[in-house]
Amino acid sequence: MFSIDRVERKAQIWGMKNRITQIAALVVVTASAAFAHSGVKDPQVLARMHVMGLVADDMEDLGGILKGQAPYDDQFVRDRSTRILEHARQIEALFEPEATDPKTEAKDTIWTDWPGFLEKARDMELAAQGLTEVQSEAEFRQAFAALGKTCSACHADYRIKLN
Ligand code: HEC
Repeated sequence: MFSIDRVERKAQIWGMKNRITQIAALVVVTASAAFAHSGVKDPQVLARMHVMGLVADDMEDLGGILKGQAPYDDQFVRDRSTRILEHARQIEALFEPEATDPKTEAKDTIWTDWPGFLEKARDMELAAQGLTEVQSEAEFRQAFAALGKTCSACHADYRIKLN
C-alpha cells in the first residue's frame, strides 16, 4: 500500500546519502590544503600554489554549510563563490609560464596538452559561475558538488600528488 511516511523516509535517507557523498568529495578536495608548498622557491610556482590554496580555503568554508557547521547564508555563498570565480579566471595566466620547482605537483601534461588544461579551467569557471547564482540551499548543495568535481577532474589529469 502507498504510504506517504515511507516515501518521506526514503527521501530522507536519499538526502543523507547524498550529503555524505558531498562531504566525502569535499574532504578529498581540501585535505591537501595545509602548506603543501613549504620550501618552494620558484615565485611563479608559489603564486599558482597560493591561489589554489585560497580556492581550497573558500571551498572548505563553504563546505562548513554542508557539514552543518555554518548556516546557509546567501551573501556568504555569493562572496566566497565570487572569489573562487575570480581565482578560476586567473588559472590560465598563472600556469601559462612553464615554471617548475622540485616541490611542484604540476604535471608536464599541462604544457604538452595546454588546450585540454584550459578546458578543465573553463569547466571550473563555469561551475563557479553557477555557484554565484544559486537561489536556495538545495541549489547551493548541487552547485557546490558540481564545482568540487571540476577540481578533482583537473587534478586527476594534471597534478601529481607528492608526500
Ligand atoms: C585547470 C586545472 C585545475 C583546477 C580546475 C583546479 N586545480 Fe588545484 N591544482 C592544479 C594544479 C596543476 C596544481 C599543482 C600546482 C603546483 O604544484 O605547481 C594544483 C594544486 C592545488 C592545491 C595544492 C596547492 C599547494 O599549496 O601546493 C590545492 C589545495 C588545490 N589545487 C585545490 C583546488 C580546488 C579546491 C579546486 C576547485 C575548486 C582546484 N584546485 C581546481 C590544477 C587545478
